[in-house]
Amino acid sequence: MSAPLRIAVAGLGTVGAGVVEILQRQTTLLSARCNRDIMITAVSARDASRDRGVSLANIAWEENTVALASRKDVDVVVELIGGSEGVAKSLCETALAQGKHVVTANKALIAHHGGALAKLAEQRGIQLMFEAAVAGGIPVIKLMKQGLAANNYTKIVGILNGTCNFILSTMERTRRSFEDVLSEAQALGYAEADPSFDIDGVDAAHKLCILSALAFSTTPAIDGITIEGIRNISAADILAAEELGYRIRLIGITERTDRGIELRVYPALLPEGSPVSEVDGVYNAVHIFGDAVGDMFIEGRGAGRGATASAVIADIMEIARGDVSQPFLVPAASLATPVIVPMEDYESAYYVRLHVADHSGVLFALTRIFSAHDISVASFIQHAPKEATHGVDIILTTHTTLEKRMNHALREISAMPSILSSPCLIRIEE
Ligand SMILES: NC(=O)c1ccc[n+]([C@@H]2O[C@H](COP(=O)([O-])OP(=O)(O)OC[C@H]3O[C@@H](n4cnc5c(N)ncnc54)[C@H](OP(=O)(O)O)[C@@H]3O)[C@@H](O)[C@H]2O)c1
Repeated sequence: MSAPLRIAVAGLGTVGAGVVEILQRQTTLLSARCNRDIMITAVSARDASRDRGVSLANIAWEENTVALASRKDVDVVVELIGGSEGVAKSLCETALAQGKHVVTANKALIAHHGGALAKLAEQRGIQLMFEAAVAGGIPVIKLMKQGLAANNYTKIVGILNGTCNFILSTMERTRRSFEDVLSEAQALGYAEADPSFDIDGVDAAHKLCILSALAFSTTPAIDGITIEGIRNISAADILAAEELGYRIRLIGITERTDRGIELRVYPALLPEGSPVSEVDGVYNAVHIFGDAVGDMFIEGRGAGRGATASAVIADIMEIARGDVSQPFLVPAASLATPVIVPMEDYESAYYVRLHVADHSGVLFALTRIFSAHDISVASFIQHAPKEATHGVDIILTTHTTLEKRMNHALREISAMPSILSSPCLIRIEE
């Protein structure tokens, strides 16, 4: 048996305490599977006095978290603090510069600085691993780097945020409003007190740009992603989508096209029965398309103590076994800056809900505007007003058209006096 692999854990919150707990509980199993012991030699967090629910006996406590990176009794630094800057970034940079392997669950850090950190790791001949940063417990990065490595990837579609998926699938099942279900998600611990990172799509975008970098050999590029969240999805949209044979889910898509890479996170209408539309609750899923394998769909827990710790420990075990891989599959120095297709050049079918005054002639005016922009309407539903004083909801779907045409048409439509509130536009992904 080789000498034990000595690890330092920075951050002892949900994931960090989970990692410590599982490493301690599964010691014998992990040693047998790696043919080597894994031992925690040092830890750090903000508050040394806090009870973490795990034993820290015989483990050094480091007051200065970044100093973990320079300890002589540490081979691997496990960063479980979070955030794209500050202590997490300094710790990872220092650890790599000191020749220590880094394992992290930090999607924000990898989305912003993954390219530079990967270069540093490769220059030093050490490992930078971040399986837990994307889709929690689902081993999608290992799948892309190992089992599917022979493929040219063409497209990846993911449900990458469990909070949004819980909210949308619960709205669908219970017919409740967005605000009501968001409060429930907060009470259940699925959403933060400030839920904006999740519900505005930023968290999913961080994960998507990591998958895109792996698939298309580019540097992670968070700045070029089109990001829309789910705040504007109403119970009326969920109901209308159902009537049309669709479900609404927040998805991330990265796709290679002739014009560049399309990178987008937004709520979309997905045909009922398609694998991604069937993902319920806090689950995540990834649908990968490769030229040799065809397509592959995996689903599992995208967050939480156990699932995330499971992914972190799988990375530690890979290092313990001496497996070597490049963080983004190809040499970091060869990662290209992605050419991202502007959203206005994107082509899709669209769902549009308009709240309009219940006057004659409104529908005629709407169809005239769509036709002036060369947009062909595919279907139309009108929901009768519940009370005489309210307007009506008109729901239209279009055939495939250019996003910029839809934007121009909706700008004109919004200026019509009979339009009572901002139009709701959702893309349809077939
Ligand atoms: N939670 C999940 O389900 C999940 C899933 C996938 C990925 N992740 C990622 O995993 C990482 C950790 O998430 P988490 O949910 O475990 O977070 P958390 O529960 O908030 O824990 C964060 C830990 O970092 C420590 N910390 C914060 N600021 C620090 C600083 N300036 N110096 C030293 N320590 C500091 C905290 O110390 P104190 O405890 O002393 O305050 C705490 O122990 C994040 O990158 C997150 O995106 C989380």
